[in-house]
Parts: sequence; structure tokens; C-alpha cells
Amino acid sequence: MTISAIQQDMRQRLDRIIPEIEIRYKAELIHEILCLKKEKDVAILGHNYMEPALFHYVPDYKGDSLELSRIASRIDAAAIIFCGVKFMAETAKILSPEKTVLLPAEVAGCSLAESITAEDVKKLKGKFPGVPVVTYVNTYAEVKAESDYCCTSGNAAAVMNAIDSEQVIFLPDEFLAGNIAKETGKEIITLSREDLQNGFSDSVTEVIGWQGRCEVHEKFTVQDIESARSQFPGVVVLTHPECPPDVVDASDFSASTSAMVKYVEDSQAPHFLLLTECSMGDNIMAANPDKEMLRMCSVRCPHMNQITLEDTVASLRNDQYVIEVPEDVRVRAAAAVQRMLEIG
Ligand code: 13P
Ligand code: SF4
Repeated sequence: MTISAIQQDMRQRLDRIIPEIEIRYKAELIHEILCLKKEKDVAILGHNYMEPALFHYVPDYKGDSLELSRIASRIDAAAIIFCGVKFMAETAKILSPEKTVLLPAEVAGCSLAESITAEDVKKLKGKFPGVPVVTYVNTYAEVKAESDYCCTSGNAAAVMNAIDSEQVIFLPDEFLAGNIAKETGKEIITLSREDLQNGFSDSVTEVIGWQGRCEVHEKFTVQDIESARSQFPGVVVLTHPECPPDVVDASDFSASTSAMVKYVEDSQAPHFLLLTECSMGDNIMAANPDKEMLRMCSVRCPHMNQITLEDTVASLRNDQYVIEVPEDVRVRAAAAVQRMLEIG
């Protein structure tokens, strides 16, 4: 595809999303990325939260954390560039250790991944010996390595249901844990690092959670939904399960990022309010020109925002930034991720 063909396509596809000046600039970067990735036999994976120009033109594979984990486990290219955040690139490396895995930004974190350490998990296992540990994919490799099962927003309930145990430790997202506990009809307590130090009373609860939160999804409120419904009757409200349980309850549909994309595609409704990271609203709007996304409650994930077209070019040119996971950690983390992939 030539630069002018990319520009033409962008003008049509991203018409309502990107101004002309940005199209001219970004088309050149996209062209360079497409040439370099072919030349270097690199596969690019892109999460649904990538900015619209990058999302629509750069990745060979796009999706949510679960879909991208599955793809990473069977990819056929010399190297992988992960346009997402660090824990996602690490998951690709855990599943494809023989491949070079690159993250375009030196730092692209996640408030959930940063909320818990391997030491915390070891202490929890000490307090609840023999209780299986389920860890959300939004964690670093050392934490996954201390876990029995990994899960994503797309399969958390299925993983919980597949475990034959009266108690489960579910880490680290307190809201996802609360939503899954509700969905599966289980009782939950949420512990903090201080609770582990100072002691706590309730140990009969079925789900033991942790006080981690997504800094994007924790911002949404029931009031956001009520005010949208009163202003725009008939609006369909979609939430990610990292939102607080009262917000999820007040919405019409709650699921992984890709399930939300599919819901909008399949729905006949004309207006949607997406309570999730805001670039995904732009990406869905571009792919569904007949549908309207309300521009409310927009919150951009500062970590996903680290991944730019410029950094992707630099990543391809300079083979940066290489994701490394120590082999002993990788093997234990891989077991938890594989158990998840086997469940479905
Ligand atoms: P998904 O697995 O639904 O894509 O979510 C990942 C994420 O980080 C949401 O904030
Ligand atoms: Fe982490 Fe939240 Fe950003 Fe997802 S949106 S990567 S959970 S901080």
C-alpha cells in the first residue's frame, strides 16, 4: 500500500475520528511500519485499546487479552511486537519463549499489575494453605508464577466454575472479583497488604480478593449511567467488568473488550455508552459508521497511551524493547496460563 493509498483509506475509515493534518503525518509512519515488519518477518499484535490510526492499520492480529494470548501461543513469525502494555507482552513471551518479543515503549504499566507482588501472593498462600490461586492476566510474570490459574475478563467466570474448591483466592482486581463473585453466587472478602500484616477475622468466605483497581474503570459511576439514560433514552450502556459492581449492575451488558466490540456490531441500537477506555469507543465508531458512541465519561489509559506509531517504528528499526522473563519464572507462569487456555 502506498502512502497516498493509506491516506485515502484513512480519510474514509477514520473520517469522524482523526483530523486531516494527523492523517497526512500518520500515513507516513504507518507505511514505514508496514514495510519494516514485512522485511523483518515480525508479527504485530494490537490490543483493542490502541489509538485509532495504529489500531486500524498496524496489527496483524487485534483483540482482547484472551484472544491475543491464544494467538501468541501459535504465532508463526521470527519476532512479535506487542502493541499493548507490558503484562500483555510478557504473556506473549511466556507462551512463545523461543521468539523475540518486543514492547514499543520502555514503560507501559498497568495499575492492576502494579497493585500486587509475588511476595503478597506467597503471604496469602501462607494464610490460606491449599486454596487455589486465580490471577488476572493483568499481572506480571512473577505473580502469575505463584498462581495456579490465570484468567482474563473473557473467561474469569469459566475459570472460577472449573475449579473444584470451596475457597478460591482471586487476585488482584477487587471489582472484577466482586463482579465474578456475584455472577457465580459466591461470597467475597477483599484483603489489603495491611490486613495480611495486622490480621483479619473472616476466613470462611468463598472468594478471597485483593485491593487492586484499574485506574481507568474505577472512575465510572452509576450517576454517569443515570445521566446518560435521562438525556438519551434508549441508549445501550456497556461496561468492562473492571468497573465497580454497582456500575456493572446498572449497565445493559458487561464483558471483555472484544465481547463489547461484537455486541455493538450485532446490535440494532443506534446509541451506545461505553464505560471503558476511550480509544476503543473511537475504534468501534470507525468500524460502525451507522452507530453512535456517546462522547461521555472518556478516560484514556495512560499506559496504553505510551504505545505510539513513532515508538513502533523505533521498535522495528532498533529491536526494542526486548521482553525478558527468567526461565524458572516463565515455566511456572506458563503452567497457570496454559491451565486457563485449556479451560476455554
Ligand atoms: P480485555 O482482556 O477485556 O481486553 O481487558 C484488558 C484490560 O486491560 C482492560 O482494562
Ligand atoms: Fe491496566 Fe486499566 Fe490500563 Fe487496562 S485500562 S491496562 S487495567 S490501567
